Amino acid sequence: MSISIVILAAGKGSRMKSTTPKVLHTISGKPMLFHAIDASLKISDDITVVIYHQAPRVREAIEKEYDNINIHIQDAEQFPGTGGAMRGIQTKYQKTLILNGDMPLITQNSLNALTSGDADINMSVIKLNNPSGYGRVIIENGKVKEIIEEKDCTPIQKETKSVNAGIYCVSSELLNRYIPKLNNNNAQEEYYLTDIIKMAVDENRTVAPIFVSEEEFKGVNSKLDLAEAEIIMQNRIKEKLMLSGVIMRFPDSIYIDCRASFEGECILENGVTILGKSKLINAHIKTNSVIEDSIIEDSGVGPMGRIRPLSHLKDTHIGNFVEVKKSTLNGVKAGHLSYLGDASIDEGSNIGAGTITCNYDGKSKHKTTIGKNVFVGSDTQIVAPVTISDNVIIGAGTTVTKDIKKGSLAISRTPLKIVADFYYRFFGKGK
Ligand code: UD1
Ligand code: MG
Repeated sequence: MSISIVILAAGKGSRMKSTTPKVLHTISGKPMLFHAIDASLKISDDITVVIYHQAPRVREAIEKEYDNINIHIQDAEQFPGTGGAMRGIQTKYQKTLILNGDMPLITQNSLNALTSGDADINMSVIKLNNPSGYGRVIIENGKVKEIIEEKDCTPIQKETKSVNAGIYCVSSELLNRYIPKLNNNNAQEEYYLTDIIKMAVDENRTVAPIFVSEEEFKGVNSKLDLAEAEIIMQNRIKEKLMLSGVIMRFPDSIYIDCRASFEGECILENGVTILGKSKLINAHIKTNSVIEDSIIEDSGVGPMGRIRPLSHLKDTHIGNFVEVKKSTLNGVKAGHLSYLGDASIDEGSNIGAGTITCNYDGKSKHKTTIGKNVFVGSDTQIVAPVTISDNVIIGAGTTVTKDIKKGSLAISRTPLKIVADFYYRFFGKGK
Protein backbone atom coordinates (compact mmCIF):
# COMPACT_ATOMS: atom_id res chain seq x y z
CA MET A 1 0.00 0.00 0.00
CA SER A 2 2.99 2.36 0.11
CA ILE A 3 2.35 4.03 -3.23
CA SER A 4 0.52 7.25 -4.07
CA ILE A 5 -1.69 7.46 -7.15
CA VAL A 6 -2.71 10.51 -9.19
CA ILE A 7 -5.49 10.09 -11.75
CA LEU A 8 -5.57 12.78 -14.44
CA ALA A 9 -9.15 13.63 -15.35
CA ALA A 10 -9.13 17.37 -16.05
CA GLY A 11 -9.01 17.26 -19.86
CA LYS A 12 -11.91 18.55 -21.90
CA GLY A 13 -12.67 15.36 -23.83
CA SER A 14 -14.00 17.32 -26.81
CA ARG A 15 -13.87 14.30 -29.15
CA MET A 16 -16.55 12.66 -26.99
CA LYS A 17 -19.06 15.25 -28.28
CA SER A 18 -21.09 15.08 -25.09
CA THR A 19 -22.53 17.29 -22.37
CA THR A 20 -21.58 14.57 -19.86
CA PRO A 21 -17.98 14.87 -18.64
CA LYS A 22 -15.90 12.26 -20.50
CA VAL A 23 -14.75 10.34 -17.42
CA LEU A 24 -18.35 9.92 -16.21
CA HIS A 25 -19.41 7.95 -19.29
CA THR A 26 -20.04 4.40 -18.15
CA ILE A 27 -18.53 1.07 -19.11
CA SER A 28 -20.54 -1.96 -17.93
CA GLY A 29 -22.58 0.24 -15.61
CA LYS A 30 -19.73 2.13 -13.92
CA PRO A 31 -18.19 5.49 -14.87
CA MET A 32 -14.78 5.13 -16.55
CA LEU A 33 -13.18 7.15 -13.77
CA PHE A 34 -14.54 4.73 -11.15
CA HIS A 35 -12.92 1.80 -12.95
CA ALA A 36 -9.59 3.63 -12.55
CA ILE A 37 -10.34 4.53 -8.91
CA ASP A 38 -11.36 0.96 -8.02
CA ALA A 39 -8.19 -0.50 -9.59
CA SER A 40 -6.20 2.12 -7.64
CA LEU A 41 -7.90 1.37 -4.31
CA LYS A 42 -6.60 -2.21 -4.56
CA ILE A 43 -3.01 -0.99 -4.26
CA SER A 44 -3.14 2.44 -2.61
CA ASP A 45 -4.70 4.48 0.17
CA ASP A 46 -3.44 7.81 -1.18
CA ILE A 47 -5.38 8.62 -4.34
CA THR A 48 -5.76 12.08 -5.89
CA VAL A 49 -8.02 12.81 -8.85
CA VAL A 50 -7.19 15.95 -10.87
CA ILE A 51 -10.22 17.69 -12.34
CA TYR A 52 -11.02 20.96 -14.09
CA HIS A 53 -13.60 20.75 -16.91
CA GLN A 54 -17.10 20.41 -15.36
CA ALA A 55 -15.32 20.07 -12.01
CA PRO A 56 -18.48 20.40 -9.85
CA ARG A 57 -20.20 17.49 -11.62
CA VAL A 58 -17.17 15.24 -11.50
CA ARG A 59 -16.46 16.11 -7.86
CA GLU A 60 -20.07 15.41 -6.85
CA ALA A 61 -20.01 12.02 -8.58
CA ILE A 62 -16.75 11.06 -6.84
CA GLU A 63 -17.89 12.24 -3.40
CA LYS A 64 -21.20 10.40 -3.69
CA GLU A 65 -19.40 7.09 -4.28
CA TYR A 66 -16.15 7.42 -2.29
CA ASP A 67 -15.12 9.12 0.92
CA ASN A 68 -11.36 8.65 0.80
CA ILE A 69 -10.33 10.26 -2.50
CA ASN A 70 -8.39 13.56 -2.63
CA ILE A 71 -9.62 15.99 -5.26
CA HIS A 72 -7.28 18.51 -6.85
CA ILE A 73 -8.54 21.26 -9.14
CA GLN A 74 -6.01 22.07 -11.84
CA ASP A 75 -5.25 25.72 -12.63
CA ALA A 76 -5.75 24.86 -16.30
CA GLU A 77 -6.00 28.52 -17.40
CA GLN A 78 -2.45 29.30 -16.31
CA PHE A 79 -0.99 25.81 -16.47
CA PRO A 80 -2.65 23.73 -19.19
CA GLY A 81 -1.44 20.26 -20.09
CA THR A 82 -0.58 17.03 -18.28
CA GLY A 83 2.39 18.68 -16.51
CA GLY A 84 0.17 21.57 -15.40
CA ALA A 85 -2.27 19.02 -13.99
CA MET A 86 0.42 17.76 -11.57
CA ARG A 87 1.27 21.20 -10.12
CA GLY A 88 0.67 21.62 -6.42
CA ILE A 89 -0.14 17.98 -5.68
CA GLN A 90 1.32 16.60 -2.45
CA THR A 91 1.67 12.83 -2.38
CA LYS A 92 2.19 10.76 0.74
CA TYR A 93 4.57 8.00 -0.39
CA GLN A 94 7.97 7.71 -2.08
CA LYS A 95 6.57 6.55 -5.40
CA THR A 96 3.70 8.09 -7.36
CA LEU A 97 1.77 6.23 -10.03
CA ILE A 98 0.14 8.56 -12.58
CA LEU A 99 -2.95 7.18 -14.35
CA ASN A 100 -5.48 8.59 -16.78
CA GLY A 101 -9.19 8.75 -15.96
CA ASP A 102 -10.16 7.57 -19.42
CA MET A 103 -8.41 4.18 -19.34
CA PRO A 104 -11.02 1.87 -17.83
CA LEU A 105 -9.49 -1.38 -19.10
CA ILE A 106 -6.23 -1.35 -17.12
CA THR A 107 -5.86 -4.46 -14.95
CA GLN A 108 -4.20 -4.90 -11.61
CA ASN A 109 -1.51 -7.09 -13.23
CA SER A 110 -0.38 -4.15 -15.35
CA LEU A 111 -0.45 -1.79 -12.36
CA ASN A 112 1.76 -4.27 -10.48
CA ALA A 113 4.22 -4.40 -13.40
CA LEU A 114 4.35 -0.61 -13.57
CA THR A 115 4.97 -0.17 -9.86
CA SER A 116 7.67 -2.83 -9.42
CA GLY A 117 11.42 -2.70 -10.04
CA ASP A 118 13.93 -0.10 -8.87
CA ALA A 119 14.10 2.38 -11.76
CA ASP A 120 13.53 6.03 -10.86
CA ILE A 121 10.77 6.14 -13.45
CA ASN A 122 8.77 3.30 -15.04
CA MET A 123 6.81 4.40 -18.06
CA SER A 124 4.23 2.52 -20.12
CA VAL A 125 5.15 1.95 -23.76
CA ILE A 126 3.04 0.40 -26.55
CA LYS A 127 4.40 -0.76 -29.91
CA LEU A 128 2.06 0.36 -32.65
CA ASN A 129 2.16 -0.07 -36.43
CA ASN A 130 0.30 3.19 -36.67
CA PRO A 131 1.71 5.42 -33.92
CA SER A 132 -0.10 8.58 -34.99
CA GLY A 133 -1.63 10.71 -32.25
CA TYR A 134 0.75 9.54 -29.52
CA GLY A 135 3.99 10.91 -28.07
CA ARG A 136 6.96 8.95 -29.51
CA VAL A 137 9.36 7.24 -27.08
CA ILE A 138 13.05 7.29 -27.93
CA ILE A 139 14.66 4.16 -26.45
CA GLU A 140 18.42 3.46 -26.51
CA ASN A 141 19.98 0.28 -25.04
CA GLY A 142 16.75 -0.61 -23.27
CA LYS A 143 16.56 2.77 -21.52
CA VAL A 144 14.18 5.60 -22.33
CA LYS A 145 15.92 8.80 -23.47
CA GLU A 146 13.06 11.12 -24.27
CA ILE A 147 9.38 11.46 -25.20
CA ILE A 148 8.59 13.73 -28.10
CA GLU A 149 4.99 14.80 -28.67
CA GLU A 150 3.75 14.18 -32.21
CA LYS A 151 3.27 17.88 -32.88
CA ASP A 152 6.94 18.49 -31.94
CA CYS A 153 8.41 15.53 -33.92
CA THR A 154 10.70 15.77 -36.95
CA PRO A 155 9.60 13.57 -39.89
CA ILE A 156 12.20 10.93 -38.90
CA GLN A 157 11.13 10.93 -35.23
CA LYS A 158 7.53 10.42 -36.42
CA GLU A 159 8.54 6.97 -37.78
CA THR A 160 9.15 5.71 -34.20
CA LYS A 161 6.77 2.84 -33.44
CA SER A 162 7.19 2.89 -29.64
CA VAL A 163 4.65 5.27 -28.17
CA ASN A 164 3.88 6.65 -24.73
CA ALA A 165 0.73 5.09 -23.27
CA GLY A 166 0.62 7.95 -20.75
CA ILE A 167 1.01 6.03 -17.48
CA TYR A 168 4.09 6.50 -15.29
CA CYS A 169 5.42 5.45 -11.91
CA VAL A 170 7.80 8.14 -10.69
CA SER A 171 9.90 8.73 -7.59
CA SER A 172 7.90 11.38 -5.69
CA GLU A 173 11.08 13.27 -4.87
CA LEU A 174 11.83 13.73 -8.60
CA LEU A 175 8.25 14.81 -9.30
CA ASN A 176 8.38 17.45 -6.57
CA ARG A 177 11.55 18.91 -8.08
CA TYR A 178 10.70 18.60 -11.80
CA ILE A 179 7.04 19.69 -11.98
CA PRO A 180 7.69 23.35 -10.96
CA LYS A 181 10.51 23.50 -13.56
CA LEU A 182 8.38 22.50 -16.57
CA ASN A 183 7.87 25.11 -19.28
CA ASN A 184 5.45 25.49 -22.17
CA ASN A 185 7.93 26.11 -24.98
CA ASN A 186 6.35 23.67 -27.40
CA ALA A 187 3.91 23.46 -30.31
CA GLN A 188 0.82 23.27 -28.06
CA GLU A 189 2.06 25.83 -25.50
CA GLU A 190 1.17 23.34 -22.78
CA TYR A 191 3.08 22.09 -19.75
CA TYR A 192 4.05 18.55 -20.77
CA LEU A 193 4.42 15.92 -18.04
CA THR A 194 6.45 13.96 -20.58
CA ASP A 195 9.31 16.49 -20.28
CA ILE A 196 10.22 15.03 -16.88
CA ILE A 197 11.71 12.04 -18.72
CA LYS A 198 14.44 14.14 -20.29
CA MET A 199 15.08 15.93 -16.99
CA ALA A 200 15.60 12.54 -15.30
CA VAL A 201 17.87 11.29 -18.09
CA ASP A 202 19.97 14.47 -17.85
CA GLU A 203 20.51 13.69 -14.16
CA ASN A 204 21.54 10.09 -15.04
CA ARG A 205 18.41 8.65 -13.50
CA THR A 206 17.05 5.36 -14.88
CA VAL A 207 13.87 5.43 -16.90
CA ALA A 208 12.59 1.92 -17.66
CA PRO A 209 10.14 1.26 -20.50
CA ILE A 210 7.38 -1.15 -19.44
CA PHE A 211 5.83 -2.64 -22.56
CA VAL A 212 2.06 -2.91 -22.16
CA SER A 213 -0.88 -4.10 -24.29
CA GLU A 214 -2.72 -1.71 -26.53
CA GLU A 215 -6.04 -3.21 -25.44
CA GLU A 216 -5.61 -2.27 -21.77
CA PHE A 217 -4.03 1.13 -22.28
CA LYS A 218 -6.21 2.47 -25.03
CA GLY A 219 -7.70 5.78 -23.93
CA VAL A 220 -11.42 6.24 -24.54
CA ASN A 221 -11.76 9.50 -26.46
CA SER A 222 -14.87 9.06 -28.60
CA LYS A 223 -18.18 7.24 -28.47
CA LEU A 224 -16.68 4.70 -30.89
CA ASP A 225 -13.87 4.02 -28.38
CA LEU A 226 -16.51 3.77 -25.66
CA ALA A 227 -18.41 1.05 -27.56
CA GLU A 228 -15.17 -0.86 -28.27
CA ALA A 229 -14.08 -0.68 -24.63
CA GLU A 230 -17.54 -1.87 -23.56
CA ILE A 231 -17.22 -5.01 -25.70
CA ILE A 232 -13.80 -5.81 -24.20
CA MET A 233 -15.09 -5.25 -20.65
CA GLN A 234 -18.22 -7.36 -21.27
CA ASN A 235 -16.12 -10.23 -22.61
CA ARG A 236 -13.91 -10.09 -19.51
CA ILE A 237 -16.89 -10.07 -17.14
CA LYS A 238 -18.63 -12.96 -18.90
CA GLU A 239 -15.50 -15.12 -19.27
CA LYS A 240 -14.80 -14.79 -15.56
CA LEU A 241 -18.39 -15.63 -14.63
CA MET A 242 -18.59 -18.65 -16.94
CA LEU A 243 -15.35 -20.00 -15.48
CA SER A 244 -16.81 -19.58 -12.01
CA GLY A 245 -19.95 -21.57 -12.89
CA VAL A 246 -22.55 -19.38 -14.62
CA ILE A 247 -24.14 -20.99 -17.70
CA MET A 248 -24.68 -18.59 -20.62
CA ARG A 249 -26.50 -19.40 -23.81
CA PHE A 250 -25.04 -17.26 -26.63
CA PRO A 251 -22.92 -15.05 -24.35
CA ASP A 252 -22.48 -12.40 -27.07
CA SER A 253 -26.18 -11.55 -26.71
CA ILE A 254 -25.98 -11.14 -22.91
CA TYR A 255 -25.14 -7.90 -21.04
CA ILE A 256 -23.97 -7.94 -17.42
CA ASP A 257 -23.18 -4.95 -15.19
CA CYS A 258 -19.74 -5.16 -13.60
CA ARG A 259 -21.35 -4.70 -10.16
CA ALA A 260 -23.68 -7.74 -10.45
CA SER A 261 -22.84 -10.86 -8.46
CA PHE A 262 -23.65 -14.54 -8.89
CA GLU A 263 -23.76 -17.48 -6.50
CA GLY A 264 -24.55 -21.17 -6.86
CA GLU A 265 -25.46 -22.33 -10.35
CA CYS A 266 -27.13 -19.64 -12.42
CA ILE A 267 -28.38 -19.93 -16.01
CA LEU A 268 -28.67 -16.94 -18.33
CA GLU A 269 -30.37 -17.56 -21.65
CA ASN A 270 -29.78 -15.47 -24.76
CA GLY A 271 -30.65 -11.78 -24.75
CA VAL A 272 -30.62 -11.43 -20.96
CA THR A 273 -29.64 -8.09 -19.39
CA ILE A 274 -28.47 -7.90 -15.76
CA LEU A 275 -28.14 -4.32 -14.50
CA GLY A 276 -26.88 -2.59 -11.36
CA LYS A 277 -25.85 -4.36 -8.18
CA SER A 278 -28.12 -7.34 -8.85
CA LYS A 279 -27.46 -10.52 -6.92
CA LEU A 280 -28.41 -13.85 -8.49
CA ILE A 281 -28.38 -17.07 -6.48
CA ASN A 282 -29.31 -20.30 -8.31
CA ALA A 283 -31.37 -18.18 -10.68
CA HIS A 284 -32.61 -19.16 -14.14
CA ILE A 285 -33.16 -16.07 -16.27
CA LYS A 286 -34.85 -16.92 -19.54
CA THR A 287 -34.59 -15.33 -22.98
CA ASN A 288 -34.77 -11.52 -23.26
CA SER A 289 -35.46 -10.78 -19.59
CA VAL A 290 -34.12 -7.70 -17.79
CA ILE A 291 -33.09 -7.74 -14.12
CA GLU A 292 -32.14 -4.44 -12.45
CA ASP A 293 -30.73 -3.90 -8.94
CA SER A 294 -32.61 -6.90 -7.54
CA ILE A 295 -32.00 -10.15 -5.69
CA ILE A 296 -33.15 -13.32 -7.48
CA GLU A 297 -32.81 -16.34 -5.25
CA ASP A 298 -33.72 -19.94 -6.24
CA SER A 299 -36.14 -18.44 -8.76
CA GLY A 300 -36.91 -18.35 -12.48
CA VAL A 301 -37.77 -15.29 -14.57
CA GLY A 302 -39.05 -14.98 -18.12
CA PRO A 303 -38.84 -15.37 -21.02
CA MET A 304 -39.38 -11.63 -21.43
CA GLY A 305 -39.76 -10.85 -17.74
CA ARG A 306 -38.71 -7.53 -16.22
CA ILE A 307 -37.58 -7.19 -12.63
CA ARG A 308 -37.06 -3.54 -11.67
CA PRO A 309 -34.97 -2.12 -8.79
CA LEU A 310 -35.26 -3.17 -5.17
CA SER A 311 -37.12 -6.41 -5.79
CA HIS A 312 -36.34 -9.62 -3.93
CA LEU A 313 -37.56 -12.90 -5.41
CA LYS A 314 -37.17 -16.13 -3.45
CA ASP A 315 -38.42 -19.59 -4.55
CA THR A 316 -40.55 -17.74 -7.08
CA HIS A 317 -41.64 -18.29 -10.66
CA ILE A 318 -42.10 -15.22 -12.86
CA GLY A 319 -43.33 -15.95 -16.37
CA ASN A 320 -43.55 -14.02 -19.61
CA PHE A 321 -44.51 -10.33 -19.74
CA VAL A 322 -44.53 -9.93 -15.98
CA GLU A 323 -43.11 -6.68 -14.55
CA VAL A 324 -42.09 -6.58 -10.89
CA LYS A 325 -40.96 -3.39 -9.12
CA LYS A 326 -39.76 -2.84 -5.54
CA SER A 327 -41.55 -6.00 -4.41
CA THR A 328 -40.74 -8.95 -2.18
CA LEU A 329 -42.05 -12.26 -3.52
CA ASN A 330 -41.47 -15.37 -1.44
CA GLY A 331 -42.67 -18.68 -2.87
CA VAL A 332 -44.96 -17.04 -5.43
CA LYS A 333 -46.12 -17.99 -8.95
CA ALA A 334 -46.93 -15.18 -11.40
CA GLY A 335 -46.89 -16.87 -14.77
CA HIS A 336 -48.26 -14.34 -17.24
CA LEU A 337 -48.81 -10.68 -18.10
CA SER A 338 -48.88 -8.90 -14.75
CA TYR A 339 -47.61 -5.77 -12.99
CA LEU A 340 -46.59 -6.22 -9.37
CA GLY A 341 -45.29 -2.95 -7.89
CA ASP A 342 -44.63 -2.01 -4.24
CA ALA A 343 -46.01 -5.42 -3.24
CA SER A 344 -45.15 -8.03 -0.70
CA ILE A 345 -46.52 -11.50 -1.50
CA ASP A 346 -46.05 -14.58 0.65
CA GLU A 347 -45.60 -18.32 0.21
CA GLY A 348 -47.98 -20.43 -1.86
CA SER A 349 -49.79 -17.52 -3.50
CA ASN A 350 -50.69 -17.68 -7.17
CA ILE A 351 -51.12 -14.53 -9.23
CA GLY A 352 -53.42 -15.04 -12.22
CA ALA A 353 -52.74 -13.69 -15.71
CA GLY A 354 -53.39 -9.98 -16.15
CA THR A 355 -53.26 -9.09 -12.45
CA ILE A 356 -52.33 -5.46 -11.85
CA THR A 357 -51.37 -3.82 -8.57
CA CYS A 358 -52.71 -0.27 -8.93
CA ASN A 359 -49.94 1.21 -6.80
CA TYR A 360 -50.09 4.83 -8.00
CA ASP A 361 -53.03 7.16 -7.41
CA GLY A 362 -51.56 10.01 -9.44
CA LYS A 363 -49.86 11.53 -6.38
CA SER A 364 -48.19 8.79 -4.32
CA LYS A 365 -47.21 5.14 -4.45
CA HIS A 366 -48.99 2.68 -2.14
CA LYS A 367 -48.28 -0.82 -0.87
CA THR A 368 -50.06 -4.08 -1.58
CA THR A 369 -49.66 -6.88 0.97
CA ILE A 370 -50.76 -10.39 0.03
CA GLY A 371 -50.48 -13.23 2.57
CA LYS A 372 -49.93 -16.97 2.18
CA ASN A 373 -51.83 -19.32 -0.18
CA VAL A 374 -53.83 -16.56 -1.83
CA PHE A 375 -55.38 -17.42 -5.19
CA VAL A 376 -55.70 -14.29 -7.31
CA GLY A 377 -57.94 -14.93 -10.33
CA SER A 378 -57.02 -13.60 -13.77
CA ASP A 379 -57.56 -9.95 -14.67
CA THR A 380 -57.72 -8.76 -11.05
CA GLN A 381 -56.95 -5.15 -10.19
CA ILE A 382 -55.66 -4.58 -6.69
CA VAL A 383 -56.07 -0.92 -5.69
CA ALA A 384 -53.40 -0.08 -3.10
CA PRO A 385 -52.97 0.49 -0.21
CA VAL A 386 -54.56 -2.83 0.59
CA THR A 387 -53.92 -5.97 2.62
CA ILE A 388 -55.12 -9.40 1.56
CA SER A 389 -54.75 -11.96 4.37
CA ASP A 390 -53.85 -15.67 4.11
CA ASN A 391 -56.02 -18.30 2.39
CA VAL A 392 -58.09 -15.89 0.29
CA ILE A 393 -59.65 -16.60 -3.12
CA ILE A 394 -60.20 -13.67 -5.48
CA GLY A 395 -62.52 -14.34 -8.43
CA ALA A 396 -61.36 -13.52 -11.96
CA GLY A 397 -62.06 -9.96 -13.04
CA THR A 398 -62.33 -8.57 -9.49
CA THR A 399 -61.37 -5.04 -8.49
CA VAL A 400 -60.08 -5.20 -4.92
CA THR A 401 -60.58 -1.91 -3.08
CA LYS A 402 -60.78 -3.11 0.56
CA ASP A 403 -58.72 -5.29 2.88
CA ILE A 404 -59.77 -8.96 2.74
CA LYS A 405 -59.91 -11.14 5.88
CA LYS A 406 -58.35 -14.59 6.19
CA GLY A 407 -60.25 -17.44 4.51
CA SER A 408 -62.64 -15.21 2.44
CA LEU A 409 -63.76 -15.20 -1.17
CA ALA A 410 -63.71 -11.79 -2.87
CA ILE A 411 -65.50 -11.29 -6.14
CA SER A 412 -66.79 -8.19 -7.90
CA ARG A 413 -68.49 -8.92 -11.18
CA THR A 414 -71.36 -7.58 -13.28
CA PRO A 415 -73.86 -10.48 -13.61
CA LEU A 416 -73.61 -12.24 -16.97
CA LYS A 417 -76.64 -11.78 -19.22
CA ILE A 418 -77.33 -14.18 -22.10
CA VAL A 419 -79.90 -13.16 -24.74
CA ALA A 420 -80.91 -16.11 -26.93
CA ASP A 421 -80.91 -15.61 -30.77
CA PHE A 422 -79.78 -11.97 -30.46
CA TYR A 423 -77.12 -12.54 -33.16
CA TYR A 424 -79.73 -13.32 -35.80
CA ARG A 425 -81.89 -10.36 -34.85
CA PHE A 426 -78.88 -8.06 -35.19
CA PHE A 427 -77.26 -9.41 -38.40
CA GLY A 428 -80.26 -11.12 -39.95
CA LYS A 429 -80.77 -14.83 -40.74
CA GLY A 430 -78.50 -14.81 -43.83
CA LYS A 431 -75.24 -15.05 -41.84
C1 UD1 B 1 -0.51 12.40 -23.60
C2 UD1 B 1 1.00 12.36 -23.66
C3 UD1 B 1 1.42 11.55 -24.90
C4 UD1 B 1 0.81 10.17 -24.84
C5 UD1 B 1 -0.70 10.25 -24.67
C6 UD1 B 1 -1.26 8.86 -24.40
C7 UD1 B 1 1.66 14.50 -22.73
C8 UD1 B 1 2.22 15.83 -22.98
N1 UD1 B 1 1.50 13.71 -23.76
O1 UD1 B 1 -0.99 12.99 -24.78
O2 UD1 B 1 2.83 11.44 -24.93
O3 UD1 B 1 1.14 9.44 -26.02
O4 UD1 B 1 -1.02 11.07 -23.52
O5 UD1 B 1 -2.65 8.90 -24.40
O6 UD1 B 1 1.40 14.17 -21.58
N2 UD1 B 1 -5.28 16.05 -18.66
C9 UD1 B 1 -5.41 16.86 -17.57
N3 UD1 B 1 -5.14 18.18 -17.68
C10 UD1 B 1 -4.73 18.74 -18.86
C11 UD1 B 1 -4.59 17.91 -19.98
C12 UD1 B 1 -4.86 16.56 -19.86
O7 UD1 B 1 -5.79 16.37 -16.49
O8 UD1 B 1 -4.52 19.95 -18.88
C13 UD1 B 1 -5.59 14.62 -18.53
C14 UD1 B 1 -6.68 14.17 -19.47
O9 UD1 B 1 -7.95 14.28 -18.83
C15 UD1 B 1 -6.31 12.72 -19.72
C16 UD1 B 1 -4.78 12.73 -19.60
O10 UD1 B 1 -4.44 13.88 -18.88
O11 UD1 B 1 -6.83 11.84 -18.76
C17 UD1 B 1 -4.08 12.71 -20.95
O12 UD1 B 1 -4.48 13.86 -21.67
P1 UD1 B 1 -4.64 13.86 -23.26
O13 UD1 B 1 -4.93 15.25 -23.70
O14 UD1 B 1 -5.54 12.78 -23.67
O15 UD1 B 1 -3.17 13.42 -23.67
P2 UD1 B 1 -2.33 13.93 -24.87
O16 UD1 B 1 -1.92 15.34 -24.65
O17 UD1 B 1 -3.02 13.58 -26.10
MG1 MG C 1 -4.01 16.71 -25.32
